[in-house]
Amino acid sequence: MKLTFLGLPGAGKGTQSAIVSEKLGIPTIATGRILREAISEGTEVGLEAKTFVESGLLVPDLIIIGILNERLAKSDCKNGFILDGVPRTVAQAVSLEADGILLDAVISLEISDDEILERMTGRRVCPNCGAVYHLRDNPSKMGHHCELCGHILAQRSDDLPETVKVRMEAYHEKTKPLKAFYSQRGLLRQIQANAPIAEVTKAIGDALGIKL
Ligand code: AP5
Repeated sequence: MKLTFLGLPGAGKGTQSAIVSEKLGIPTIATGRILREAISEGTEVGLEAKTFVESGLLVPDLIIIGILNERLAKSDCKNGFILDGVPRTVAQAVSLEADGILLDAVISLEISDDEILERMTGRRVCPNCGAVYHLRDNPSKMGHHCELCGHILAQRSDDLPETVKVRMEAYHEKTKPLKAFYSQRGLLRQIQANAPIAEVTKAIGDALGIKL
């Protein structure tokens, strides 16, 4: 199974890709997470991407395509993978196809801008393992610590309301056109994402014809 998740920032791509990844036993490749790690390690890619990520703008396609190709070449991707937040532009999608990487389905998580702004203020993430929580809707059973690794949880620096607005604009301008791109290929599955997490997961399973 080769899947990708599309959707506004905070639509639930990371949350749902982690669930589907575990159920199917295939890795998730999240370019946002790879970029945040590169930034905190101060690598060349991190230095190039830093100002884009911190201001909520999309990182140039060439950087993303390089990261993605390097990750997809690893052996754990041979039985399938889930892409979280990539491709994010038509140019990235065209590059994937040109490299012979053909997706089986594209899940678009549908939610309004207003619902996103409310959701983002409550998000907490684990800087160590990447697990995602929400203060009200998906709290950690260990309070301010990660259930999976015990690390203290944090807010993402790009979750400030003004940066979230820039990220939403980037989605509407650059990423939303991918829905038409994948619809033409018969791959697009649109899922209402403003339901409880378990209901969204079930709807994704139904759309893929698998039990999740
Ligand atoms: P990235 O890390 O991909 O951020 P994003 O797309 O903006 O998405 P998020 O991670 O913010 O949200 P999500 O949809 O995963 O939601 P989540 O599951 O966390 O990218 C960051 C930056 O990197 C970009 O701005 C860009 O600069 C750069 N970048 C990355 N990829 C790129 C690319 N391909 N090209 C160019 N630039 C790129 O959920 C959000 C919150 O809601 C959580 O608290 C969660 O617990 C909660 N929640 C989830 N589902 C539900 C539900 N159903 N009900 C209630 N609460 C829920």
